[in-house]
Amino acid sequence: MSDDTAPFSGEIDWGALRTEAEDAMRKAYVPYSHFPVGAAALATDGRIVSGCNVENASYGLTLCAECSLVSALHMSGGGQLVAFTCVNGDGDVIMPCGRCRQLLYEHSVAGMLLETVSGIRTIDEVIPDAFGPRDLQQYSA
Ligand code: THU
Repeated sequence: MSDDTAPFSGEIDWGALRTEAEDAMRKAYVPYSHFPVGAAALATDGRIVSGCNVENASYGLTLCAECSLVSALHMSGGGQLVAFTCVNGDGDVIMPCGRCRQLLYEHSVAGMLLETVSGIRTIDEVIPDAFGPRDLQQYSA
């Protein structure tokens, strides 16, 4: 979060990431909205992590695809996110919701790239002046 350049920015295979996101989207559990979402991201060590949305009868407890992606990141070895995309049931790129932009910010490298409805953007562009881990540092022991 200290510089504006994402590592690997020249090497990101957005098509491969979208394919992973589409595969994840097909695993979505969406009996209420019928709106499957799949997300995929490149991690700092080069592996790809993905996730799908998992809904709940209480509606508000629905897990967005980004939630399961972040869990997958940590369950498969940790690291940070370098590049991210997410798609709907038609395979079209969609924007992460506001809550998920915050979620992604927490686990992003500085300048993480996102494929968005308006092209490739950095995490700072989609959640400007974000509150994040550094804002808590002065209070940690
Ligand atoms: N959804 C996601 O999984 N990620 C987003 O960033 C936007 C919304 C899901 C939540 C819900 O299951 C469905 O899309 C409709 O809102």
